[in-house]
Amino acid sequence: MATRHFLTLLDLSPEELHYLIQRAITIKNRLRAQGPTYAPFSNRTLAMIFEKSSTRTRVSFETAMAHFGGHALFLSPRDTQLGRGEPIEDTARVLSEMVDIVMIRTFSHAGLETYAGASSVPVINALSDDYHPCQLLADVMTWTELRGSVRGRTAVWIGDGNNMCHSWINAARQFDFQLRVCCPEGYEPRQEILEAAGDRVTLLHDPAQAVVDADLVTTDVWASMGQEEEQARREADFTGFQVTEALLDSAKADALFLHCLPAHRGEEISETLLDDPRAVVWQEAGNRLHAQKALIEFLLLGRVDH
Ligand code: CP
Ligand code: NVA
Repeated sequence: MATRHFLTLLDLSPEELHYLIQRAITIKNRLRAQGPTYAPFSNRTLAMIFEKSSTRTRVSFETAMAHFGGHALFLSPRDTQLGRGEPIEDTARVLSEMVDIVMIRTFSHAGLETYAGASSVPVINALSDDYHPCQLLADVMTWTELRGSVRGRTAVWIGDGNNMCHSWINAARQFDFQLRVCCPEGYEPRQEILEAAGDRVTLLHDPAQAVVDADLVTTDVWASMGQEEEQARREADFTGFQVTEALLDSAKADALFLHCLPAHRGEEISETLLDDPRAVVWQEAGNRLHAQKALIEFLLLGRVDH
């Protein structure tokens, strides 16, 4: 069987993604009830290549492997031959001989695809400049846990048309919900990603209009990793795009607010938004652990029904 990778949400079918969400909830409930007693990955190793910083992604993958009885290796370009110019295909071939699964956080999505093309073990995108699919597993899991099926509901993306926005667009396609993407002019998501989602996704430029009657509102930083030098210009260009409690008041009364984190209070969100009961970002962050356990299990073992 061909090796399965998870570089975007489109690498799994909608049906497989639904399975993963339910499986993640089962895994979470079992951990709560019994502790980390389910250990299917004895002697299995996950290599974690981080070319960008991380708190949640590193801790959740590493803890997932520890809970599952396996091992995780943290690899950074600073301390590996990747940083000294060894071709990524060669690294992929070498790691395929030694580890069972690989997770990569990098800049270039094309580079990630090149790596996966040379890897005979599953490769997971742990964030590229273009997508962050693991975050969407946790986000859809959180939304599902709190509100049931997301099918036919309406989510609103406020802010930059970035990697998270692209993955929300793919999530709208795969989980069949409506998404309103609301960006400042010039910061829209990539046209082909938007167009491929068809009429599930609409593009707007006015946050007040975008959030009306929404089931869920989400945003992200205005300058992503690698765009630090654009911070000042972006702060000016994103004026009016801060998500506040007052903005959320125009959404449905039971609307939820998600943010992948890290958040910049006083920039893309008000100083106090994360204290509002509609903000469920700590549960969302914690769900990275459970969703990725389900993902690793699926990529290594296929479907599990116990
Ligand atoms: N949301 C997220 O991926 O966080 P980290 O950058 O801390 O991994
Ligand atoms: N868009 C952000 C997400 C961080 C988790 C970034 O790429 O920096």
